[in-house]
Amino acid sequence: MLHRKDSDLGGAGEPPVVTVGSLDRYDGKVVRLRGWLYQGRSSGKIAFLMLRDGTGIVQCVAGRADVGDEMFDTARHATRESAIEVTGAVKKDDRAPGGFELLLSAFDVVSAAAEFPIGKKSHGTSFLMDHRHLWLRSKRPHAILRIRSTVSLAIRSFFDREGFTLLDAPIFTPAACEGTSTLFETDYFDTKAYLTQSGQLYMEAGAMAFRKVYCFGPTFRAEKSKTRRHLTEFWMLEPEMAYADLDDAVELAEHMVTDVTRVVLDRNAADLELLERDRSKLEAIAPPFPRITYDEALAILAEKGMAVKWGDDFGGDDETVLAESFDKPVFVWKWPKEAKAFYMKSDPDDDRYVLGVDLLAPEGYGEIIGGGERTDDLAYLEKQIDAHGLEPESFAWYTDLRRYGSVPHSGFGMGLERFVGWLCGTHHVRETIPFPRTINRLYP
Ligand code: 4AD
Ligand code: MG
Repeated sequence: MLHRKDSDLGGAGEPPVVTVGSLDRYDGKVVRLRGWLYQGRSSGKIAFLMLRDGTGIVQCVAGRADVGDEMFDTARHATRESAIEVTGAVKKDDRAPGGFELLLSAFDVVSAAAEFPIGKKSHGTSFLMDHRHLWLRSKRPHAILRIRSTVSLAIRSFFDREGFTLLDAPIFTPAACEGTSTLFETDYFDTKAYLTQSGQLYMEAGAMAFRKVYCFGPTFRAEKSKTRRHLTEFWMLEPEMAYADLDDAVELAEHMVTDVTRVVLDRNAADLELLERDRSKLEAIAPPFPRITYDEALAILAEKGMAVKWGDDFGGDDETVLAESFDKPVFVWKWPKEAKAFYMKSDPDDDRYVLGVDLLAPEGYGEIIGGGERTDDLAYLEKQIDAHGLEPESFAWYTDLRRYGSVPHSGFGMGLERFVGWLCGTHHVRETIPFPRTINRLYP
C-alpha cells in the first residue's frame, strides 16, 4: 500500500493511528482513531460515542474516571459530526457493531460541528438530496456507493482479463448517436457541440484498430421523463468487438453481468446486508440468460393484458411485467427497425427487423443493457443516416469505417446506475450515483 503503515503514524512510544476497518489486527492493544462523531449518548459517569471514520463505525466507551472530568465533559457535549480523535484499548465484543469496542483513555475534538441538518428522524428524499454532500456520511448511501465502487472495479478487471483495451470516448461530440430528442447542446467556440449520449460510434472506430475495446464514462441525455430509471448524466460501459456478431455481444453481456454480480456478493456482503438485499436473487444469476424475440415479448405482454403496438418500444411498466416472467435477466432481441437507432444491422432473414438486443433486469429494474450488431454495409448506413434526418457531414468519419475494411462487429452499452440499482435493490437510480443529475436537480 502507498499509505504509511498504520503503526508508523503514531510516533515513538505513542499508540498507532489506525482505522476502524483494521481494528481486528489490534485486539487488546491501545490505538488512536481519527474520524467524526456519528452519534453519542451519556449519563453522568459514562459516555457511548459512535466514531465513524469512513472505513467503519465503532462504539467508544468513555468513563469519567478513565478520561478525567474535562475530557469527559468535552465528549459528552460534542455535537454530531464533529471531527474527533480518540485513544483507547481495542476490545473484542461480538455484540458490538463491527465486533469491537474501544475503551477510551483520551478524547479530543479536532473541529466542532454546527448542528447537523440530517437527524435521526426520517427526512423526505428531496431534503436528503439537497443535503447530498452531507447525506453521503449515512450508512445507506455509504453502502450503495461502496457497491458502485466494487462494480466499476470489477467491470474494468473483467474486460482487462478478456483482452479488451480501454479507449476513452470524447464528451464533446459533433453528432447524435441515440436520436436528436435528448441532446444537450452547448456553444463550442463558433460552432455547436453536443454532450455525448454514447461512446459507441468511437468504440466502433476503436474496434477496427484494437479489435476489442471498451469505454466507461459519463454520458448525457436531456431526459424529460421523471421516472425511477432516468438520469440526465449517467455512466455507461460500452464494449465493442470486431469480427463479432449479435450472439457474441449477448454472450459477453451475460458473462460480464454474472462475473460482476459474484464479485459484489463476495466483497460487499456487509453492504448488501445493510441494504436488506435478498442475496438469493443475485446468487441465482448464471449464464445462459433466457432469450426471447421482440415478437415473443409482445405475445407475453398481450397475454398479461398489456397491449404494445408492433414497432413501439416498451415502456417501463412493460419491461417490469416482461421481466417478472423470468427469474434471471432476460434478453429481448430482433427488434422492429423503427424502434431502434440508425446504426443497427438489418436482419438478413427479414428486413423489417434489426439485430438489436436489450437486457431486462428482474424485479422491475428494466433495461440495463442495450446493444447489438452494427451495420457493416456503407450504402445501407448512408440510407439510414438520411432516413433518420441526421447530417451526413457529421457522420463522414463514421461512414469511413465502412470504406476501409468493414467487418461484422457488435457491442453494447450498460447503464451503471441501473445495474447498481438492481444489485442494491434501490427504488430509484438517483441513489446509485454520488451526485445525481435529473430534470429537476443540478444541486449540490
Ligand atoms: O439503450 P441505450 O440508449 O444504448 C446506447 O446508447 C448504445 N449506443 C450503447 C451501445 O451499444 N454501445 O443505452 C444503454 C443503456 C441502457 O440500457 C440503460 O441501462 C442506460 O444506458 N441508460 C440510462 N441510464 C440512466 N438514465 C438514463 N437516462 C439512461 N438512458 C440509458
Ligand atoms: Mg435502449
